[in-house]
This record gives sequence, C-alpha cells and structure tokens, in this order.
Amino acid sequence: MTQRKPRILSGIQPSGALHLGNYLGAVQNWVRLVDDYDCFYCVVDLHAVTIPYEPAELRERIFELAVGLLASGLDPDRCTLFVQSEVPQHAELQWLLGAVTPLGELQRMTQFKDKSDQWGSVNAGLLTYPILQAADILLYHADRVPVGADQQQHLELTREVARRWNGRFGEYFPEPRPLLTRGARILGLDGVAKMSKSKGNYIPLLAEPDALKSVVRTAVTDPARVRKDDPGNPHVCNVFDLHGHVSPIEDRDDVEILCQTAGIGCVQCKDRLSGNLAELLAPIRERAAELRAHPDRVWRILGDGAVHARRVADETMVEVRARMGLGPPA
Ligand code: TYM
Repeated sequence: MTQRKPRILSGIQPSGALHLGNYLGAVQNWVRLVDDYDCFYCVVDLHAVTIPYEPAELRERIFELAVGLLASGLDPDRCTLFVQSEVPQHAELQWLLGAVTPLGELQRMTQFKDKSDQWGSVNAGLLTYPILQAADILLYHADRVPVGADQQQHLELTREVARRWNGRFGEYFPEPRPLLTRGARILGLDGVAKMSKSKGNYIPLLAEPDALKSVVRTAVTDPARVRKDDPGNPHVCNVFDLHGHVSPIEDRDDVEILCQTAGIGCVQCKDRLSGNLAELLAPIRERAAELRAHPDRVWRILGDGAVHARRVADETMVEVRARMGLGPPA
C-alpha cells in the first residue's frame, strides 16, 4: 500500500497587498513544499472580516492575493489552492472546536491583544479567530504548517485544541507542527516592528521597480550613522538584514564592507537593495500581469481547489459529527 504524503495546510489573509514578509516567511516555502507534501493553501477570507474592511473591496483583494500566490510559483496542479468561505466546513468545525477551547487561552493570544489595542472596539470574531485557524488546519489533518514566527502561538493553541478534542472524543486529529524559514520574522521599514499589512510598514511584493525604490528609500537604517562619511554597523541595520534575504551573496558581502568603511551611504545601500528586489521579483510581477488578464482562469483554479477541499473536509466532518454524537445515526 502506498503511504499518503504528509499533509500541509497554510493560510493567508486577503487583508491587503502581499508583502515581502509574507513571501520570505511563508509563500516562498509553500512553493518549495509541493513536491514532498500534499499541500492545501487557503485564502482566509473569513478571518479577514474580523477587522474593519470594505465589502466592495474584499473580492478584489481575494483575487489579487490568489494572483500573487500563483505568480509566486504555486502550481495549482500540484497543490490545492482555495478560498476558505467556499468550504463551509471550516466554520462548522470552528463552532464545534469552540466547545473544547478555554476562553482564557484565547484572551492571552498576542495577536488578539495587538489587534484589540489597534482597533479599539473588539468583536467576538477577533477573539475566536484562533479557533477558526485551528479548524482550518485540523479539518485537513495537516501534519505541518508553514508559517512565519508570528503564527507560532496560534499553532500552539491548535495543538492544545486537538489534544483536548482527542481526549474527549477519541484520538483523531494529529497535533500539527510549524515549518519555519530563515525569514520567519522579517521586520518592517521602521526596522522595529514585524513587517505587516496593518502597520503599513511593508514592501509590496508586486510593486513596479520605481515604486519599490521609493518605498525602500523610506527604510530606517543604523540610527547611529548620521552622516554619509560615518562608518555604519550593518549588523544593527534592517536594510542590511534584507540584503541577506534577497541579494546575491557577493553583493551582500560587498555592501557589508562598504557600509563599515563608509564606502557607500545608506541611500546607495537601499538603492542596491531595491534594484536586487526588482530583479528577484520581476518574473513574479510578469506572471501576475498575465494572470490578471485572465480572471476566469484564476477563479476557476480557486473553484476547482474548493471542490477538492470540500471533499476532504466533508470526510472529516462526517467523523467529527459521529464522534460528537450529532445528527441522525450513520
Ligand atoms: P497573515 O495573513 O498575517 O500572514 C500570512 C503568512 O505570512 C507570514 N508573515 C510573515 N513572515 C515573516 N515575517 C513577517 N513580517 C511576516 N508577516 C506575515 C505569516 O506568519 C503567515 O504565515 N492567522 C494567519 C492566517 C491563517 C493561517 C491559518 C495560517 C489562517 N488560518 C491556518 C496557517 C494555518 C495570518 O493572519 O497570516
């Protein structure tokens, strides 16, 4: 008998432009993993409605995100790409998992605390958000979850929820483990906070070279380097860190020495970074333009993905309902 490949699930919110942090922390890894795993990737629109948004813009964002993911190299023939709300079992399982999730665990989630500080008034969805994330993962019996470091706490909760559910209704869900990359925590242009859509400190993945150049020009560098002739310390500089992720190694080494010896100023260093980024991202930008010209193709890929996802999700829900004593006898 052939063994099934280990399964992966990961998700991304359609809450703004795909950015370099998403790419280096998660999406680049998603693309690599399709050979060795049975991969499910999900545009999590149900998560995105927990923060203020414009209904008229959401569908466009879902589309743009799908374009960005496909353009980044996800091959729909080798993975399942779908939109979360197209698979109603996610919301159903979330409700059922809510019955074994301690409230206190939800209240101590960092992302909940950050978002409630940021948005002031707090809706219940923001609090129960991690249960939906646990449902996303457990519905597919995912073994591994490729994410950035900011999602580790949500994954710990997912494991806890799986453990509690298994303890109450019998061993069924695996406890998923994260898969992190070297770029698991990319800092934003401020060089302090995590790069994020909501903080507006991000480098958009699909920007044109000119736009990339102006965005990167706003990045904070070594604060102790005031004048161009001062030697800088690349090891406290986020722009240098980004060079480490996107520039060819010789270029990165060159910039390191030139910074330390005041051979180049910060503006030149940033321009080299945006030049390298533009080159790295050019094929992605081109593929995105092609995909935008064929929206039907993109929606069809998502539709086909949802058909497959629903089939797998349904099998799980039949078992979950039975074990929880719901519905008529089988
Ligand atoms: P989201 O949409 O904020 O981010 C998507 C992915 O990008 C990673 N990421 C980063 N990695 C490194 N550096 C950064 N600055 C950075 N910013 C974002 C995130 O860690 C994530 O992997 N709650 C999740 C979405 C979600 C999910 C899931 C993830 C819903 N259900 C199930 C995994 C499994 C989120 O808001 O990601």
